[in-house]
Amino acid sequence: MAATEDHPNSRSAIRWFDNEHPGLRRFWHPVAATGDIDGDGPHPVRLLGEDFVIARLMGEWTAFPTTCPHRLAPLSAGSVVGDTLQCGYHGWCFDSVGTCVHIPALGYEASVPPTAHLKPPKINAIAEKYGLVWVAMEDPATPIPEIPEWDDDGFGLAVIPTQTWQASAGQMADNFLDVAHFPFTHLGTIGDPDDLEVAEYNVEKFRWGFSSVHRHSSKVLADATGGETESFTTFDRTMTFRCDAPHHVRLHIDYGDDGNLVLMFFHQPVDVGHTTLYCFALAENIADGRMQPEDHIAFQAEVGREDRELLEQLVRKAVPLDPGVETHTRADKTTVALRRLLSEVATMAGVPVE
Ligand code: FES
Ligand SMILES: [Fe+2]
Repeated sequence: MAATEDHPNSRSAIRWFDNEHPGLRRFWHPVAATGDIDGDGPHPVRLLGEDFVIARLMGEWTAFPTTCPHRLAPLSAGSVVGDTLQCGYHGWCFDSVGTCVHIPALGYEASVPPTAHLKPPKINAIAEKYGLVWVAMEDPATPIPEIPEWDDDGFGLAVIPTQTWQASAGQMADNFLDVAHFPFTHLGTIGDPDDLEVAEYNVEKFRWGFSSVHRHSSKVLADATGGETESFTTFDRTMTFRCDAPHHVRLHIDYGDDGNLVLMFFHQPVDVGHTTLYCFALAENIADGRMQPEDHIAFQAEVGREDRELLEQLVRKAVPLDPGVETHTRADKTTVALRRLLSEVATMAGVPVE
């Protein structure tokens, strides 16, 4: 892409961080929720602006190129047959390393032309974790983040439906880490219009990430789901944010007597203009039966709709890494920390693997 200043997504040096920044190639990204895939696939994927297909062969996720070498049919229109991916057009079968092992029209004894084999896409690693398929394009600098509550029986799971926003992953993480926007963006749900001032707080930096604790006033759930009403009840809640490179966000909310809630926000940088969000809630009040997963799903979908409506209006789908481009205040420590983290990620581009 040409790096002209008037283009909304122009990139020069490391000043802007968008969804196709080469530094992202050195990190794990979710590319699909297994619940969204029909069986073992195949399933089309776009990541960092590159297209490929994934399918599960013999229990292992494998990446394939997008098209069949015969008549260039999309391999995402095929199916998994035995331990092969079969093209849906004329039935050519490919094994897990892309070798064409069978051309039905020629019979089982025929030899296969050398050009019938697939060239596997350039992907370093593919794995499944938390009901998501993850891909690292190059040797990953960090592991997939840990979620201690995932295997904890004290927490119940609610999976928010997968959605794709017209925003960059950095902008979405920026929003989910932001502590000053609740009484404005979320006035219709959690936002308390009388809780405008952000109390002093600190950010703790660690290798490839940071965390922060923030206390604020939020509407109680019954009022938060009732829209913008004149009368409502609020309570104080403690939010512990954590961000792991490149832009995986974890939000732990202590609701006091109502227990603890963990929200995970995993982003798939699809291309410069789009990000797919995989979000799920792990809640104690689901495990103990006080709330149903559907209650969390409906509530988070509404809060997310408020964020999305605003974010999609940002013209430039990138986060500036030059501190002089935006104006920062003491209320913005988490989002300033994100910009520093993205700057570190940006420096990974072109760094040789040790
Ligand atoms: S196009 Fe794939 S088998 Fe013919
Ligand atoms: Fe928000």
